[in-house]
Amino acid sequence: MKVQQLSCALGAELVGVDLGEAVRNDDLFGEIRAQLLKHRVLFLRNQQFSRAEHVAFASRFGALEDHPVAGSDPEHPGLVRIYKRPDQPNDRYENCWHSDTTWREAPQFGAVLRCIECPPVGGDTMWANMALAYERLPDTVKAQIADLRARHSIEASFGAAMPIEKRLALKAQFPDAEHPVVRTHPDTGEKVLYVNGFTTHFTNFHTPARVRYGQDANPGAADLLRYLVSQAYIPEFQVRWRWEPNSVAIWDNTATQHYAVMDYAPCHRKMERAGIVGSVPY
Ligand code: SIN
Repeated sequence: MKVQQLSCALGAELVGVDLGEAVRNDDLFGEIRAQLLKHRVLFLRNQQFSRAEHVAFASRFGALEDHPVAGSDPEHPGLVRIYKRPDQPNDRYENCWHSDTTWREAPQFGAVLRCIECPPVGGDTMWANMALAYERLPDTVKAQIADLRARHSIEASFGAAMPIEKRLALKAQFPDAEHPVVRTHPDTGEKVLYVNGFTTHFTNFHTPARVRYGQDANPGAADLLRYLVSQAYIPEFQVRWRWEPNSVAIWDNTATQHYAVMDYAPCHRKMERAGIVGSVPY
């Protein structure tokens, strides 16, 4: 296996690896997992595997889960279809830096995404290293956010454009989750900045230590959240990947955020993502 680092912040391309073989080969799978924890997002080209092999490979990391809004392949539960037609006004959702499913109590551990069809140019995906983003925060900000917690909402993101009855039903099924603003990575022990496009507000900002008068709470809390969310936008923390059919990305969803660039209308783009169940953040 050849490992080619793609940016100083994160990301490496694996050359000479067949993910179909990694379904059966424990040593190869173990090496891929180790590289994932090191580089946070791995990229491979020309992976000619079947949907069943896609599911089987991703399942080696853990159980897969469907998405309550995006549909899955009917014959392969756990394989979510991200089929985009940006010429359709309701099909523009990807434009937001996020970590998948942080609106769940236990957000996903990671994902394996394969490109089925992509535009001749455009439709790249970007990732940001949120452990690095945390590390580079000023010490004063680190002290300010050490004990903060925040809400993450499917209702206010995927649900926002739904009719109210459907939105409330979605919220009843997936009540807003609360997570620490600084999460500890369960495998590496690193601290990770853990707010993103699904985060609506801090839940314990309004204390006497931070708020002298009620007026301090907002915009104080909103400004701080906006500043933290904007760390993912910093190019020094990022890598950008150009897709071809049968390219694959595997990412660590705890330590990264990503953004699928929707710049390719009127072309279409088809991706299939196996999302791996994760653990409750601490
Ligand atoms: C995602 O947000 O998981 C999908 C990323 C992509 O389509 O590039």
